[in-house]
Amino acid sequence: MKTLLMIKPDIVENGLHGEIIAFVLRNRFRITDLRMVSMDKAMAERFYEVHKNKDFFAPLVEYVTSGPVVAMEIDGENVITKIRSLVGATDPVEAKPGTIRHMYGISIRNNAVHASDSPEAAKKELAIVFGDS
Ligand code: CMP
Repeated sequence: MKTLLMIKPDIVENGLHGEIIAFVLRNRFRITDLRMVSMDKAMAERFYEVHKNKDFFAPLVEYVTSGPVVAMEIDGENVITKIRSLVGATDPVEAKPGTIRHMYGISIRNNAVHASDSPEAAKKELAIVFGDS
């Protein structure tokens, strides 16, 4: 099974992406692909399509296209659930200590990383980010 873990632009801008990659590896996950990507608007809208009717959709698209992201393909048994548990709750205020969002998130939007939440989402999101490789 594969999932996508994506480090968001403000983290990359602040030079903290290396720490998150190291944290993922230290937790014994296997990164099978890794790429820095500048998402354009159309790509971001497709990526976050499930949220298109939410009031946070437009600012979310603007945020995620504000600079390059770092995308990782991670492979392993039950990796979707395991990575989501390492990532923590969407809102960093609710994320447990020791999780990526607790350590690096600053708001519900600027929550450091995105992780696929289902096999279908992982397939779609990996295709969007790594599709042309
Ligand atoms: P992510 O896991 O990438 O999936 C959708 C993203 O939308 C989420 O992380 C946040 O960046 C953002 N988001 C979710 N809920 C809210 C909200 N209530 N207000 C602003 N942004 C949100």
